[in-house]
Amino acid sequence: MDPKSPEAGDEPQELHDLPPDAFHERVHSFEHWLTSVHGYLEERPWGHREDLDAGEISPEVRDRLIATLCNYCVGETAALEGAGGLIRVAPNRASKIFVATQAVDEARHLEVLVHRLRELGVEDPETEITNRAHPSLLSFKEKLLALVANGEWLSALFAQNVILEAMEFTVFRHHAGRTDPVTRDLLIGIIKDERRHIGFGENELGRCLKADPSASAKLVTVRKQLDPLVLETFDLALRDLGAPVEERTELGRDYLGAVGRLGIA
Ligand SMILES: [Fe+2]
Ligand SMILES: [Fe+2]
Repeated sequence: MDPKSPEAGDEPQELHDLPPDAFHERVHSFEHWLTSVHGYLEERPWGHREDLDAGEISPEVRDRLIATLCNYCVGETAALEGAGGLIRVAPNRASKIFVATQAVDEARHLEVLVHRLRELGVEDPETEITNRAHPSLLSFKEKLLALVANGEWLSALFAQNVILEAMEFTVFRHHAGRTDPVTRDLLIGIIKDERRHIGFGENELGRCLKADPSASAKLVTVRKQLDPLVLETFDLALRDLGAPVEERTELGRDYLGAVGRLGIA
């Protein structure tokens, strides 16, 4: 693994002193996951510190926030079901263990987001999520889960750990910078996990494409199918957040840059 990759960003130095194979196995282990999430889980009972006060939230801002969080729940459910399905599809033990840790992360994200909806006064989150879900995101979820069901490891990993994660990472970071302190703290914890997931996806795909450059042709097709859905979802999510058009364009470019790092265009 490239020690400069996003996944490796928070690793202690002794990890980088390990031989490459031992390093690879360690950073994909549950043991390592436990160390990574310790503070987040222990100090944030429902994903955020208990001593934070959200302050006064106007009815309009609350409604926009609920719409946004409902769509985050759809994205997190896609990632949860996708990561769970990929345990069977992953080609080796280290990858199976990593996607198992990811499934736990995604379940936790979903749980704390649903809890935040309840904190905001939503009595029936399931119905609210169904009513507020953007069709483009539902369509993305369906296509991702079809790749997982077909056992297409590289394509599914690309769709989930690069495309979906890059979208979430970009939107969550933007949102964390302009929301109430409780939602911000919750998003910061989630973003830390998403960084790990993107790092894993980029690293796995980078290694596979190096070994077999012809595999990129299939990923180009996947990207062509998914990019329009992602960009539409992006636009709707940022509109829900009240982001001005020029900012939406800029964030769309950030997303395309993150996905383009692998050279799949
Ligand atoms: Fe997530
Ligand atoms: Fe994730």
